[in-house]
Parts: sequence; C-alpha cells; structure tokens
Amino acid sequence: MNKQQQGQDRPRVVLGVSGGIAAYKACELLRRLTESGHDVRVVPTAASLHFIGEATWAALSGNPAGTEVWESVHEVPHVRIGQTADLVVVAPATADLLAKAAHGLADDLLTNTLLTARCPVIFAPAMHTEMWEHAATQENVATLRRRGAIVIEPAVGRLTGADTGKGRFPDPVEIFDLCRRVLARGDRAVTQDLAGRHVVVTAGGTREPLDPVRYLGNRSSGRQGYALARAAAARGARVTLVAGNTELPDPAGVDVLPVGTARQLREAVLKVAADADAVVMAAAVADFRPAVYTTGKIKKIDGVEPEPITLVRNPDILAELSADRLRPGQVVVGFAAETDDVLANGRAKLARKGCDLLVVNEVGEDKAFGSAENEAVVLAADGTETPVPYGPKEALAETVWDLVVPRLAGPRG
Ligand code: CTP
Repeated sequence: MNKQQQGQDRPRVVLGVSGGIAAYKACELLRRLTESGHDVRVVPTAASLHFIGEATWAALSGNPAGTEVWESVHEVPHVRIGQTADLVVVAPATADLLAKAAHGLADDLLTNTLLTARCPVIFAPAMHTEMWEHAATQENVATLRRRGAIVIEPAVGRLTGADTGKGRFPDPVEIFDLCRRVLARGDRAVTQDLAGRHVVVTAGGTREPLDPVRYLGNRSSGRQGYALARAAAARGARVTLVAGNTELPDPAGVDVLPVGTARQLREAVLKVAADADAVVMAAAVADFRPAVYTTGKIKKIDGVEPEPITLVRNPDILAELSADRLRPGQVVVGFAAETDDVLANGRAKLARKGCDLLVVNEVGEDKAFGSAENEAVVLAADGTETPVPYGPKEALAETVWDLVVPRLAGPRG
C-alpha cells in the first residue's frame, strides 16, 4: 500500500538520478517538486555523484540521498523506498540506466527501487544522439514502454560540447508538469493507451504576410494544442506538434515543428501525417491570405488612399486530411471556434469537413483564446455528442484522446 492509499498527505516521489551531465538540471526539477508539497527522496547512482554530490541532494530534498543498499540496512531501503513511492521519476536516465532497468538488474539502490516500485515510473533520458538511436537503447526503451513505464522522448538541441541533435534532457519544467499530471491521474496514471501510436497535433495560429513587417493573424495562443500534445505524450504516443507562432515552451518529449503560414502548416502536416494514427487540427488556420505579397514595406504616401487588400482562399487542410486519409484508418479531429449558433454551426461544419470528431467551442472577446480554460462539446461523425464542462484545457485534451483511442484502427506504429 503506498503512502497516498494510507491516507497520508504528501505524495511521495522518488527522484532517480543517473550519471549524466544533465544531473545538474534535475536540481531544478527537485526544487519544483519539493516547493509544490511533494516528499522527495533522491536516489542517485554512484556515477551521478561525479556531477552533483550527495550533500546537494540531501540539502535540497531534506532526505538522505545514499546510492547503496548497504546504508541504513535495518530500514531495508532497497525494498521500502520503491514500495512506498507514489511516483518514481528518473531524470536524467542514461543509456546504461535504461539498459539495467529493461533487464531487471539491481546492483544499487536506484535499480533496486525500480524493481520494487509498483507506482507509475517516468524516465527522462539524456544522452548523445548516437547512444539514443542505437538499436540496443531503442529496444530497451520499447521494453520499458511495453511494461507501462513512461519514457519521455529526449529533446532535440545542443548536447554536451559543441554537437547538437536528439538526446537533450527535456525542460525540467515540462518534466515537473508531467509528474504532476501523472500523480493527479492516480490509477489512470499508467494508462499508456497511445503507446506505439504516432499522433500529429497542430497548434497556434498562422500568420499571412502582407509585406516584410505586416501580417494577417489571429488570437490563438496555442495552449489547447500544446495541452493535447502533452497529454498524448503522457499516454505513450510519439507526438509531432506543428506549431504556428506560439511563445510556449516545447513540451517534454514532443517533436516540435515551427511554421508560419497556412501553406507552411499544410506542407508540414502532410509530410509528418503520412504515418500518423491520428491528426488533431487544433491550430487556428487562416482561411484567407493576401492575394499579393509586397516584397518591400508598403509605405504611406500623402494624399494617396491605400490600396484595398484583396484576399484569396487558403487550402482547407482539415477537409483535405479528412477526404484523403493519408493512412488507412487514420483518425482526424478538427476544432471549430464559433461565436453564434454554436452547436448548429458545429454540426454543419463536422459534415462539411468530413472529420471523425469536431471539438466545438464558443469564442468571443474574453472566451477561450489565450485563457487556460475551455468549455466545449465534442461532436462525433457517428452522431454522439460529448459535452466537456468549463475547466482546464488539459481536461479537454484528455477527453479528446479518450474519444480518439477507441476509434483507432489497425496495428500500432
Ligand atoms: N482549418 C484548416 N484549414 C483551413 C482553415 C481551418 O485545416 N484553411 C481547420 C482548423 O484547424 C480547425 C477547423 O478547420 O480544426 C475549423 O476551422 P474554422 O476556421 O472554424 O472553419 P471554417 O470551415 O473555416 O468555417 P468558418 O470560417 O466559416 O467558421
């Protein structure tokens, strides 16, 4: 029985730290976990102490931070720490640690803890691209995911030294956010119902340039799309996020492709959605763009009226994806932002676009755009309607995936 089940208050988190330079970034994760009321026990590997010493972990966590099973043996730490945890997060997880965990080795306190833990386990890998891409590592990751662990895809970016590539430690704020959501989901935390699936999410808004300094845009913040991407990653999916003009941080473990215009968004989506099990079009795509792009800045001339702006239609990406289905059985989800006759317009739009699900929400000056909350009805092509009460965009994101999962067909991957 874990501590939460015993009715005690503070969720107990084990922070495993293995021997990579990113160990220093785990200090930030630890700080966020302790400051938000979690009881954190850090279990470093001996190798990781070359980067961050035991004293730092003990001082920041307020708990002992030994590496070996031979310390405080009377408390049987190699069994007790794992058994009583509500969540184990290993950050950073090296290739060596992933290999040990996948094969059930138990030669120090952390690997023993991983074998005795019955709570959700998150690994945040960090290593050089070659090590991450090696078949051995990829098979170990697949094994861990098959057993229900959450292995965050590493970020792409600057690695130790001058090289860049995939393998970078995800943003500690994003790992913290994932930990909180996994803890909040309780028994549902281990639901990896999108494991082995590739999903594409679009987010943000497109900008259609008039000249080098001006554009036609919209007020989409990207928050709903980012919440969808995070939720899918937490449920085990490989996630590609096509992001138009947002200022949000890259979600942990998500491949982010920045785009500017509707046509760039279309090109990016068509490319990455070829092998996707589901595509969720949460982006606010501009329906029109200026017919003419002026290569030099449009200047005002005294006494001369400005030229009217002529608009032309942009391609309707959602309708195209729904009609063509880039992969058999691919689930396509659209969003509809309506200001009037919300449901009637939503139903008509679902039929017109031909998608499987349409998330309809009412927008206005102070509704939905930029806010952290949303209220919606999810309309399905089979006629079912799922109301989602006013609440955080994360909750709507979970409902969307709850509705996508049973509609997924065919083999995974
Ligand atoms: N969408 C798209 N391509 C466009 C415009 C919109 O793929 N050129 C997608 C959006 O990502 C969203 C859905 O279509 O998922 C609804 O967009 P919306 O602009 O509300 O729908 P429209 O069909 O353009 O209807 P209207 O503008 O008349 O409300």
